[in-house]
Amino acid sequence: MKLTTLCLLFALLAAPATVPAQTYQPSEANLQSRREFQEARFGIFLHWGLYAMLASGEWTMHNQNLNYKDYAMLAGGFYPSKFNAEEWVKAIKAAGARYICFTTRHHEGFSMFHTRYSDYNIVDATPFGRDVLKELADACHKHGIRLHLYYSHADWYREDAPRGRTGLGTGRPAPKDNGESYFNFINGQLTELLTNYGEIGAIWFDGMWDQDRNPNFDWHLDEQYSLIHKLQPACLIGNNHHITPFPGEDIQIFERDLPGENKAGMSGQAISRLPLETCETMNGMWGYKINDRNYKPAKELIRYLVKAAGKDANLLMNIGPQPDGQLPAIALQRLSEVGKWLETYGETIYGTRGGCIPPHTWGVTTQKDNKLYVHILNLEDKALFLPLEDHKVRKAMLFADRSPLRFHEEEGGIVLYLNDVPQEETDIVVELQLKE
Ligand code: GLC
Repeated sequence: MKLTTLCLLFALLAAPATVPAQTYQPSEANLQSRREFQEARFGIFLHWGLYAMLASGEWTMHNQNLNYKDYAMLAGGFYPSKFNAEEWVKAIKAAGARYICFTTRHHEGFSMFHTRYSDYNIVDATPFGRDVLKELADACHKHGIRLHLYYSHADWYREDAPRGRTGLGTGRPAPKDNGESYFNFINGQLTELLTNYGEIGAIWFDGMWDQDRNPNFDWHLDEQYSLIHKLQPACLIGNNHHITPFPGEDIQIFERDLPGENKAGMSGQAISRLPLETCETMNGMWGYKINDRNYKPAKELIRYLVKAAGKDANLLMNIGPQPDGQLPAIALQRLSEVGKWLETYGETIYGTRGGCIPPHTWGVTTQKDNKLYVHILNLEDKALFLPLEDHKVRKAMLFADRSPLRFHEEEGGIVLYLNDVPQEETDIVVELQLKE
């Protein structure tokens, strides 16, 4: 073989199968959608699947090594008689959330939408027979709430799905091919999701970590990402893989931790320049768990939203709907409390970016144009030094009643006097108007 032929052969072998994502240039529509995503600041995550019936979270199939054929029988009894998409969306909108992220197919492998690529879906396999995703999408579009779709790479049900480190006890035979049919299935489903349900704000991938002991494993991301951007250029792609974003991704996701913190152990990755989102649960579980009544108080949820905004991140707060199709009463109550707070303070959250003063032990700042919102979460001192560096303050006032606050300039910032500020446990918000 001639040297040139050899070189060509080598180049072909070394070339990736699809367009390298390194060349990814987000479209104008995509960039606009990223800005709108950042402005939204607050979304609600909904984890709903067959697992709701087992009422012990979305990992029950793995945790209890349930056989995949036995598990599938749950579908025959799934009849969420009280499901009403319109009611979900109204409650979520009243909470001040601007988008919903819905689990279309979680690791259990059941599709919560009508797909022609598998009968194991809510329309064909349950007596309920309704495409809940279609109903949710219609309600979202009607009420101006964006819809994001969670989609799991890991699958504990399909025989052709790659074996990773989870869901190994579900009794499936080893896959016959090297994942080809599974990746075709994924592409088929993504095409359905992006053509049958109107405008989709984001595809939210999860479960890629299932192969983290096999770092060379190819999840065919380039193919999936370019398909998504081809079908809907404005659709954002996020991937909860717990590592630095890959080219082709439009947002960066953190699980159970604010960017830069890593208390839960899944968020050690560096913060990128992409719009950020942190997801967290209202109680301790993503999917419905009957005996987890340990819902965080509204005050804590609000403070988490504020802290996320102060770190320039969105908060995606999770609720696990019940098997009957309703959102748990406690979750509804929390939603309405957060909504009440946002009615007053929304201006200091929506459309803001992390402020020019980085997060501190006393709290965080958010900023929109020349307005700096100082969110005091722990009132440590009635004379609070704010390191504003070169920014000069024109006016300081308590956001709630617009009453002026005293301050004086010092080297590198101002000292703000908070003596007369009423006791407020959730968040004392001070508005500083900066000189241009
Ligand atoms: C994890 C879990 C999954 C959950 C997700 C939400 O990856 O495996 O159950 O859906 O986090 O962030």
